[in-house]
Amino acid sequence: MDQAKRDFDKEAATWDAPARVKIAGEISKVIAEHLQLRPDMDLLDFGCGTGLVSLPLTSAVHSVTGLDSSKGMLEVFANKIQSGQRSNLKTLHLDLTKGEAVSGSYHAIISSMTLHHVQDTLALLKQFNRALHPGGQIAIADLDEEDGRFHDSNEGVFHFGFNREKLSALFVEAGFTGVSSLTATQMHKPDAQGRDRVFSIFLITGRR
Ligand SMILES: C[S@@+](CC[C@H](N)C(=O)[O-])C[C@H]1O[C@@H](n2cnc3c(N)ncnc32)[C@H](O)[C@@H]1O
Repeated sequence: MDQAKRDFDKEAATWDAPARVKIAGEISKVIAEHLQLRPDMDLLDFGCGTGLVSLPLTSAVHSVTGLDSSKGMLEVFANKIQSGQRSNLKTLHLDLTKGEAVSGSYHAIISSMTLHHVQDTLALLKQFNRALHPGGQIAIADLDEEDGRFHDSNEGVFHFGFNREKLSALFVEAGFTGVSSLTATQMHKPDAQGRDRVFSIFLITGRR
């Protein structure tokens, strides 16, 4: 695994490719089905990117905060917020792995395809637990274990997916209850020889 930082700023302008929009939309739908979203809830999207997963959830909650360490991604997200004239959305430029902590208190934290970019999973989950109101909900989507061939380059990739049972145990260790997992969707990607490869994406949910 390559620990050099991947430059998401450079990727921001072209992030919303059709395949990503499709997968993010499927993940967003499954999150909406498995979290109890209410109009009084403040929701945090960790590693929000351009907002593909959290934007569809905005009408179901009081506010959405998109947190990301990439200014480029957040700029694209902010442009969508402005053009959609949404008042209950904001962006937060923060890197939770650099000693910066989430200051707010949220009713739900979601994240899609970002956990594998963070080395210390348990420390991050503990931070999420602290940032949630008591009873607050968490929903994390990421890759099931893979052989390192999901990314074209493994720059900034700390985990080749996750074992659901081991990751669920970390959720419990971080203080979450009612932890359960399901398959959110599958992603098809051709390999170098053009053969179809299928990657499975889980959703783990729980409560503080
Ligand atoms: C693979 S992208 C996923 C983006 C979005 N969730 C989606 O599904 O389209 C991972 C995102 O996590 C962000 N990220 C990676 N490490 C981070 C960290 N330590 N703190 C905050 N954001 C981070 C990256 O900048 C990038 O936007």
